[in-house]
Amino acid sequence: MNPTRILVIPGSARQGSWNVALAAHAARRAQALSMQATVLDLRALALPIYDGDLEKADGVPQGAYELQRALEAADGVLVVTPEYNGFPTPLFINAFDWLSRIQPGAGQRSGLATTANKPVALLAASPGAGGALRSMNYVRQYLQMAFQMIVVPQQFALARANEAFDEQGGLKDERAGQTVDGVLTALQTLAGALRR
Ligand SMILES: Cc1cc2nc3c(=O)[nH]c(=O)nc-3n(C[C@H](O)[C@H](O)[C@H](O)COP(=O)(O)O)c2cc1C
Repeated sequence: MNPTRILVIPGSARQGSWNVALAAHAARRAQALSMQATVLDLRALALPIYDGDLEKADGVPQGAYELQRALEAADGVLVVTPEYNGFPTPLFINAFDWLSRIQPGAGQRSGLATTANKPVALLAASPGAGGALRSMNYVRQYLQMAFQMIVVPQQFALARANEAFDEQGGLKDERAGQTVDGVLTALQTLAGALRR
């Protein structure tokens, strides 16, 4: 069977983002675990804040279709997002809200048909002691309830992320590294089972 294709989506796009660093580490580990990993830059989708008037005037922006195509090409998804005041970031939520507005049409399914039954796993990072754990249940609920994605039970919140990476971008703490590998393996197993 071809390698499991994982789309890695960081919920932050800023220079020096700890979540981008964790996403990059996870993508490298996914390759090492025989998966094929692609990291998606949500900022590059250039999506405006969702606005029904904008949608009415101009339709769903191209960036949402780009997100849909990237998801269509993936067997599984890994979301790696910080939290702002205990919630997932607007960058992440806004992109998925736009995705949910894609209607079925010539050559494409609805945004929600794309996500339905697609496996997803969650990572999070924060310089704080909680590692963005508070937002993870919201992300889980959002993807499961609204997008009908299958969220694997395994997840990991990286606390003190500003001290967590070595010079090569790997995780200094062996147990943290093993936990990330465990999340990836759970995603790989579920995605593989669903492909069969
Ligand atoms: C508006 C705002 C709210 C934040 N709220 C939280 C929070 O609730 N919990 C937390 O651990 N960190 C919080 N932070 C700190 C972020 O974790 C920190 O800025 C982190 O570096 C952002 O992730 P990034 O490095 O991937 O961009 C907040 C930051 C901002 C800008």
